[in-house]
Amino acid sequence: MTYLSADKVENHFHDVVIIGSGGAGMRCALQLADAGHRVAIVTKVLPTRSHTVAAQGGINASLGNVDSDHWHWHMYDTVKGSDYLGDQDAIEYLCRAAPRIVRELEHQGVPFSRLDNGTIYQRAFGGQSREFGEGGQALRTCAAADRTGHAILHTLYQQNLRAGTHFYQEFFALDLITDDDGCHGVMAWDIAKGAYHLFQAKAVILATGGAGRVFKVTTNAHICTGDGGALALAAGLPMEDMEFFQFHPTGIADVGPLISEGVRGEGGYLINGEGERFMESYAPTAKDLASRDVVSRAIALELRAGRGCGPKKDHVLLKLDHLGEALILDRLPNIHELALRFAGVDCTKEPIPVQPTMHYTMGGIPTNRHTEVVYTDGDNTEAVFPGLYAIGEAACVSVHGANRLGGNSLLEIVVFGDACGEQVNEHLKKQHYHTPLDLDCWKQAVARVERWFESTSNNDGPRIADVRARMQTIMQEHFSVYRTEDVMREGVEAIEALAAELVSARMDDGCRVFNTELIEAMELENLMALARVTAAGALARTESRGAHARDDYPERDDEQWMKHTLATIGDSGVELDYKAVRTQPLTVESFPPKKRVY
Ligand code: FUM
Repeated sequence: MTYLSADKVENHFHDVVIIGSGGAGMRCALQLADAGHRVAIVTKVLPTRSHTVAAQGGINASLGNVDSDHWHWHMYDTVKGSDYLGDQDAIEYLCRAAPRIVRELEHQGVPFSRLDNGTIYQRAFGGQSREFGEGGQALRTCAAADRTGHAILHTLYQQNLRAGTHFYQEFFALDLITDDDGCHGVMAWDIAKGAYHLFQAKAVILATGGAGRVFKVTTNAHICTGDGGALALAAGLPMEDMEFFQFHPTGIADVGPLISEGVRGEGGYLINGEGERFMESYAPTAKDLASRDVVSRAIALELRAGRGCGPKKDHVLLKLDHLGEALILDRLPNIHELALRFAGVDCTKEPIPVQPTMHYTMGGIPTNRHTEVVYTDGDNTEAVFPGLYAIGEAACVSVHGANRLGGNSLLEIVVFGDACGEQVNEHLKKQHYHTPLDLDCWKQAVARVERWFESTSNNDGPRIADVRARMQTIMQEHFSVYRTEDVMREGVEAIEALAAELVSARMDDGCRVFNTELIEAMELENLMALARVTAAGALARTESRGAHARDDYPERDDEQWMKHTLATIGDSGVELDYKAVRTQPLTVESFPPKKRVY
């Protein structure tokens, strides 16, 4: 490599480097910075632009502010919601920690909405019950109007500024620095200046969020490109359960922005082209507040039966005008604005056109419940990859299994951000020094970037934007709400062929300073890796479970498939392996699988 020498790489030493500045990374950073460690957040965006800011409806905790509630009921709902693929030790930890962590957020300054008695406002969300499904709808989702993620992210950012966390913003992570002893840092690209940086650390935490941009129509921001997962795959580590992408029932039709489940929690409901409240026949008890996989499948079936709305009969309607203008503007102001801006609809007067829209990545980088990244070693047992941690949507811990409940995502990021802080704190007590690095450790990252600059003289290669659009179309058409063998097989072949084309793709812009095309090119590499493992895992799983619904295998098959998928990318393509679900909680009895009825 002639274009660069090691002295052109700027070096940084931190105790901990966290990649990603969403709620998970921020919560973890705060824990560690407050404990006196030298913490860096490396983020490709301005921190308050991280996708947590877009989370709307709320965060679950069994505070019982409105009606009686218990963490064990929350645990039951989450295990059931996961279609029994969630790991019950992690779910128990999540639900038990929730009340503490939400009160902590309140004390850190999150401006939650309030009940008349001054306690935190809690609303109904999907898949939530009391008394293990016997006691009716729970009111468990703590909300700051419909801007809960915004409130949490800004509060955590301010707390991190106070605590002295170092922010490297608009830095793109290129490559993990790993060897047989684990992870020792990360190479990154300073987007604004066009320069290489090596971050050495005693612990590296991947908190990069989801990969929703694998799909064409999504509630996810453009930045949700699965960067952490792709870094892990490139380091030879697996991704877990990537076939489970959640379709939120109510994205704005055609364009995707999220219309919160909070709308149905406040009393809104769905109607089809014939004006019927169709959820009554799919989920007689929970109706519009059944879990998301159930509601999305119901909408897909209504559309397939020709009962959609509009000239193309390709969406249904979400009606909320009966809630009244005062309630809408008080509790759902953001929804009011989004509907106006993206659908041209004043929802105090008319229903909002909606359709199932890719929303959440249930799969991710496998971790144990302590947030340590794990893999299957040569003896076929699960091993920890030292020095590397993953949290939030980037990780698969796995509290969501095959289907996440609304309101459990914001909860996961703060609970496991906190847990990761504790775990890394213990690790740092033993890891006093930075590991000396291989002199060439920066080269792979540099080659990754320079390949794109060299491509500017290649006029024949496909353009990045074209490849991305084709990838998103393939994923949307072949791996949507309902899936079948033939359609997915075609999708796998198309994605593999496109991945091969990406190797010769070209960039037009050769400028090193603030080159957004370069960032898009590397994001596309990341997305493509995740699309490949998603497609392969989905084709292999011959059952319907949670968000993975197959016409040709309509039933859940616990005997064959109550197991997690692990996918790696080797020289010969995607390789699949499996591991058992952790069905044993820590202090209570396991919830055995049974038929899910809402
Ligand atoms: O519908 C919503 O407000 C989304 C919440 C979530 O995904 O947890």
